[in-house]
Amino acid sequence: MMLKSKRIYLRPLRRSDAIAVFDAVTKSRSDLDRYMVWSPLTTKVKHTAAFIRQTFVWRRREVGYAFGVFEASTGEYLGNCGLHDVRHRIRSAEIGYWIRSDQAGKGLTTEASALLLKFAFEGLQLHRVILRAATDNGGSNRVAEKLGFRLDGIHRHEELLARGWIDYNYFCLLEEEYRTARDHINALITR
Ligand SMILES: CC(C)(COP(=O)(O)OP(=O)(O)OC[C@H]1O[C@@H](n2cnc3c(N)ncnc32)[C@H](O)[C@@H]1OP(=O)(O)O)[C@@H](O)C(=O)NCCC(=O)NCCS
Repeated sequence: MMLKSKRIYLRPLRRSDAIAVFDAVTKSRSDLDRYMVWSPLTTKVKHTAAFIRQTFVWRRREVGYAFGVFEASTGEYLGNCGLHDVRHRIRSAEIGYWIRSDQAGKGLTTEASALLLKFAFEGLQLHRVILRAATDNGGSNRVAEKLGFRLDGIHRHEELLARGWIDYNYFCLLEEEYRTARDHINALITR
């Protein structure tokens, strides 16, 4: 399964990606640790290998679709973007993403997420996609805004990280909102 644009493609992670993914985590650690619970715990390549194995289980059970984001022309690994917590009865899932620090600010996460939203609403026929971003995560909140997500509210002290309690903005995009925003979302995908 591959989701493609002119600049990037998304495909399920493979066992053989573990070193590239771990290397990207290591080089992006200061940005990741500020917002991600898992990154301080990812200190050895075996932790990344275990995560990749877990993504196979999620996909088989149809509860999560993790993708690696790769540069289209070189195949270089750039980051992750995926759907998790897929709830079939209410056709809902949560989107998550991160990009290598040296690749930030190029619109890559917005583009990868646009490809993933197309998959979520047109492929999986979801009704709702949730996006949670720490209230102080300027980049992630901006990605949500660019994709047309609407803010539902703030969950206070939703997460505990090394730097303290973190408040989260809860955004969501409903299928009817996706249909209305489809041209705009398609325009975020390079052709
Ligand atoms: C947040 C993150 C995913 C953004 O990825 P990215 O590829 O740089 O995102 P994009 O380039 O598609 O868009 C980022 C937007 O946020 C803006 N931005 C970046 N930092 C910002 C900040 N501190 N405050 C406000 N806006 C900011 C950029 O200018 C851009 O908006 P623009 O296109 O209008 O100029 C990336 O920095 C990252 O992986 N951070 C660490 C992990 C993380 O926070 N993941 C998300 C958890 S919810």
